[in-house]
Amino acid sequence: MLATSDAVHRLRAAGCVFAEEEAAVLAEAAADTAGLAAMVDRRAAGEPLEQIVGYADFAGVRVRLRQGVFVPRVRSELLVRLAATEAAEGSVVVDLCCGSGALGLAVRTAVPGITLHAADLDPVAVACARDNLGGGVHQGDLYAALPGHLRGGVDVLIANVPYVATRHIPFLPAEARDHEPRTALDGGDDGLAVFRAVAAQARDWLSPTGLLLSEITEAQAATACAIADGNGLTAAVTSDDDLDAYAIIVRPAPAR
Ligand SMILES: C[S@@+](CC[C@H](N)C(=O)[O-])C[C@H]1O[C@@H](n2cnc3c(N)ncnc32)[C@H](O)[C@@H]1O
Repeated sequence: MLATSDAVHRLRAAGCVFAEEEAAVLAEAAADTAGLAAMVDRRAAGEPLEQIVGYADFAGVRVRLRQGVFVPRVRSELLVRLAATEAAEGSVVVDLCCGSGALGLAVRTAVPGITLHAADLDPVAVACARDNLGGGVHQGDLYAALPGHLRGGVDVLIANVPYVATRHIPFLPAEARDHEPRTALDGGDDGLAVFRAVAAQARDWLSPTGLLLSEITEAQAATACAIADGNGLTAAVTSDDDLDAYAIIVRPAPAR
C-alpha cells in the first residue's frame, strides 16, 4: 500500500528530478495503492515513466506504449512539423522505423486524409504501432516491409532511424540503455549506418516530388548530406533550437 506522498518520497530518493509530477502521473494510472506501489518500484528501478503507464504524450497526441518500445522524444516533433507541412489530403506518407508509430500518428492527426503506412523490424514495436495506428503497419527490414505498390509513390518518407554512434551508447541515460532495444538506438560506427541504407533506396520509393525526413545530430550533418548526394538526392539540414533537434530533408535530385 502506498500513498501519493510516499510515492513522491520514494521517487525523490531514487533520484527522479520530477518526483511530484511523476508520482501524480503514476497515481492517475494505477488502479489502486498496491498498483501504485508496483509502478513506483519499476520507476525507482529506472524504467521509463511512459513504458510504465503505457502511454506518452507526443506532439499533441497520446501514443500507447509497450515495455521495450522506444519512447518518442520531444525533439522528434520537428520531423512531425516538417512532414505535416509537406503532406496534404491524399498524400502517401510512410513512417519507416516507426517504433510505437508516434510520428505517423501525429502527422495523420495534423493532416487528416493521408494514406499512412508504417514499418519496423521489431515485432514488439509493430504490435505497439498497430495499437496506435490500426492497419497499414508492416514488419520487416526497412523497405522490404513495405507493399511493393508504394514504390515510386511515397510523398513523405519519415525515417527516424537509430542514429547514435556505437561508441556513444554507453553515455546514454540508463533509461534508454536498459529499457530500449539496442536496435532502436545503435546507428553503427558513425551513427549513420541505417540512414545510409534508407538513403540508398530512397529514390526508388519516393515520388518524383517526394521527400525523406530523418533526424540527425549537428555533427552528422555534412556526412549525411554527402550520403544523400551520393545516392542521386539533394539534401538540406534544418534545426530547432528549442527542441535541440536537427533534421535532414532529402529530395530526388533533378535529372542532369
Ligand atoms: C530511434 S527509434 C524511432 C522510433 C519512432 N520512429 C519514434 O521516433 O518514436 C528507431 C526504430 O527503428 C527500428 N529499426 C532499427 N533498424 C531497423 C531496420 N533495419 N528496419 C526497420 N526498423 C528498424 C527500431 O526497431 C526502432 O523502433
